[in-house]
Amino acid sequence: MSTLITNIAELMTQDAEHRVLRDAAVVIEGERISWLGPAADAPAADEAVDAGGRALLPGWVDSHTHLIFAGDRTAEFEARMAGESYSAGGIAVTTGATRSTSDFDLTRLAMGRVAEAVSQGTTYLETKTGYGLDLENEARSARIASTVADEVTYLGAHLVPAGMDAEEYTELVCGPMLAAVLPYVRWADVFCEQGAFNEDQSRRVLQACKDAGLGLRVHGNQLGEGPGVRLAVEFGAASVDHVNYLSVADIDALAASWSGWDAGTGQRGSGTRGTVATCLPACDLSTRQPLAPGRELLDTGVQLALASNCNPGTSYTSSMAFCVTTAVLQMRLSVHEAVRAATYGGALALGRESGNDVDGERAVGSIAVGHRADLHLLNAPSATHLAYRPGIPLTHAVWRAGVAQGVGAAQAVR
Ligand code: NIG
Repeated sequence: MSTLITNIAELMTQDAEHRVLRDAAVVIEGERISWLGPAADAPAADEAVDAGGRALLPGWVDSHTHLIFAGDRTAEFEARMAGESYSAGGIAVTTGATRSTSDFDLTRLAMGRVAEAVSQGTTYLETKTGYGLDLENEARSARIASTVADEVTYLGAHLVPAGMDAEEYTELVCGPMLAAVLPYVRWADVFCEQGAFNEDQSRRVLQACKDAGLGLRVHGNQLGEGPGVRLAVEFGAASVDHVNYLSVADIDALAASWSGWDAGTGQRGSGTRGTVATCLPACDLSTRQPLAPGRELLDTGVQLALASNCNPGTSYTSSMAFCVTTAVLQMRLSVHEAVRAATYGGALALGRESGNDVDGERAVGSIAVGHRADLHLLNAPSATHLAYRPGIPLTHAVWRAGVAQGVGAAQAVR
């Protein structure tokens, strides 16, 4: 089955050449993109969709979410808006609610959140454990996550649960808990921050998870300067997320991790890729932290991702469009840079930026022949409208692996 999407006013490919085509068309064949180019040259297909002069982008790649949770933290949010500051301790409230929720309800809640994200243009999504914080609940969170998300991260090292000694808990995270989640996860993460895990504990978690064959990510430098970024680069983590408080040495280390990397080669695992800096602007606003220095990071050669960080404590939104809008209006990224960070950048943070017809997995986050047909049609003539019309829901249509998604699907699942 092939589908021709034609009459595209602006096709923002986010491919290796950063091409933006006008009056363009795209052909989907099965799960893959089989052709793109000027609408006038488009081949015939089994069916045609008239884009009506709208803009087509890659679907959003949301590389940082925490969707496996139950409960509500409105009161904490209200207190924060009244002047209290965020601290890691709020995680414990969600852990209590999550532990007492059935598998069925946890799955239903997570599915509803994924559907909400997809209906806003997200076509590839990572989620984490981290609200179980004991062996049984981390393992079931990982299992449930593996049924709803494209990529799953083990975040047993999110907070030391009440009643446990930090050293004893770190041993559990590095040993039996890791073994229990291993069948379900591809990534491991640690919240390296004051009030969560210190440098030594974080190092032990990263080493154990690396030894177990997991890719690494780090929650780092969210609430103050600290060792998170340094550890992430040292361990070759795919991404360090938050990055609000960075020293010059942190920025230099991130930039150095990308020196010599060629985005154009499309090589998977070439050994030269660095650590993506993932900015979470919705979280920065909701916690009243300074925005991550996205402009400065880009200017020094760091590869950037934007993600929603959807979670009940610091960022209860799955709107990648909101993140893009904020990155343009507040972080001073161009629209093209912000869209790139929310598509290709997210794919890079998940090691899914390359791969085509001859590889086992297809690339996500960019529009090119052989890549996965993950597409987002805006109800606007250009991507600029994402920032020009802030807050307006602009998703018109979404294709995920070549399949058209119902943009009203979120309501049906909830
Ligand atoms: O990424 N920073 C740590 N984890 C989440 C917040 C978790 C929570 O407060 O529930 C984050 O912001």
